[in-house]
Amino acid sequence: MHTTLLPSTPEGIRRAAEALRTGAVVAMPTETVYGLAAIATNDLAVAEVFRAKGRPADDPLIVHLTHRLLNDAEVVRGLVRLGLLDPTLGPRLADDVAALATCWPGPLTLVLPRGPAVSDLLTSGLPTVALRIPAHPVATALIEAVGAPLVAPSANRFGRISPTSAEAVLAELSDRIPFVLDGGPCAIGVESTVLQPLGAGRSRLLRPGGISHAQLHALLGAPPEPPEPRTGPAPAPGMSESHYAPRTPAALVPPLNDWTAADWAHLRDRLSSTPRLAWLLFSDPPERAQENTTTQLGAPCAARTLSLSGSLDEAAHHLFRQLRALDEHGAELILIERCPDERGIGAALSDRLRRATHGTPPLFPSEARPLSR
Ligand code: TXA
Ligand code: MG
Repeated sequence: MHTTLLPSTPEGIRRAAEALRTGAVVAMPTETVYGLAAIATNDLAVAEVFRAKGRPADDPLIVHLTHRLLNDAEVVRGLVRLGLLDPTLGPRLADDVAALATCWPGPLTLVLPRGPAVSDLLTSGLPTVALRIPAHPVATALIEAVGAPLVAPSANRFGRISPTSAEAVLAELSDRIPFVLDGGPCAIGVESTVLQPLGAGRSRLLRPGGISHAQLHALLGAPPEPPEPRTGPAPAPGMSESHYAPRTPAALVPPLNDWTAADWAHLRDRLSSTPRLAWLLFSDPPERAQENTTTQLGAPCAARTLSLSGSLDEAAHHLFRQLRALDEHGAELILIERCPDERGIGAALSDRLRRATHGTPPLFPSEARPLSR
C-alpha cells in the first residue's frame, strides 16, 4: 500500500476526512504526538488501526473529539448525548469530570465508564473508555470535517518510539497506511496524561504526561493515586512495561555532570569490549560527553542534547525525535541521562525513559527502579 503525505491545507484535510469516512485509517497530528485515526464507531476501521500498528487487541484506544461535537454543551451532558459516557454516572464523578474537562482541549485523557456507542473492540472489552479533546488545529479541523469522534493511538508500530513529526510516522508506518496528514512537529512531544477519575476527588494516574500531577491535584482537591498494583502475572490491558523503545539497547545512567572516576571504572567493567556508544543528554553539550568518552574509554561516540538551556518542556519536545535519531545512528548502546527533575513534565519524561530502557539490564544499580505499572 502506497502512503500519501497530505499537507494540512483545507484540501488535504478534506481528502483525509473523505478517506476516514470510507473506513480508511489516517495519521494525524496532535499537540502531543501523531495519532493513527479511524472513525470510532466503525469496527472494521478500528480493527485496521490495530493491524497497521501490530497492536495487541488487549490494548484499548483513546477516542478523540472536539467541543463542537459535544454541541458546545456542558461536557458531561455532551459526552452522554454522543453515547460515549455512561448516563448513570453519579454526580460525584460528574463533578470531577467537569473540573478536569477545564484542561480540554489539551493533553489529558480521562478513563470513564463507557456509554452505548462505544464498541468492545476499541476498549478491549473494558467497562471504561478513554476520552480526550486534543489541542491541535489540524486534529480539530479533521474531526469536525468527519463529524464524528476518532480513535487515535500513537502512530508508531506497537512498543516503539511515538512519532512527533510526519516523517517519523512514515519511518514507522510507511506502506502500511494510506495517508499521513502533515501538521509539522508536535509542540509537546510526549503523550497525554491518562487519568481515571473515581469520584469525590479520588483518581488514579495511569500514565504521566502533558498535564502534571500538581495540576490534577489542584483541580480535584486531592492528589491522584498511583495505578492499582498488579494482581496476576500478566499486565492489565495496555500496561506493558517495555514501550517507547529504540531497537538499539539503551540504559539509564546518572547525570554526566556527577560522574566520578569510579563511575567510569564501573562502566569499563560492565562493558566487556568497548561498544559503539551514543549519549542522550539533558542539558550538557554533546562535546562534553564525546570528550569524556574518548578520554575514559578511548572511543568516539555520538551524542545529542535535549535542551541546552535545561528546559524540561524543550526536552520533552525533542525527546522522541532525538531518541529516534540516535537509534538510526548505528550505535550498539545508547546511554541516557536520568531525568534531572521528576516534577511537572519531568514525571512523563522519566516514565518514557524508564520504559525505553526496560529491555536492557541496568548498568548502574542507582538506575534500577521498578516501573509503577
Ligand atoms: O497523547 C496521546 O494520548 C496520543 C495522541 C495521539 O492523542 N495517543 C496515545 O494513544 O498515546 P496510545 O494508544 O498510544 O496510548 C493510550 C493509552 C494506552 O496506554 C492504553 O492502554 C490507555 O491509554 N487506555 C486506553 N483506554 C483505556 C482504558 N479504558 N482503561 C485504561 N487505560 C486505557
Ligand atoms: Mg502509544
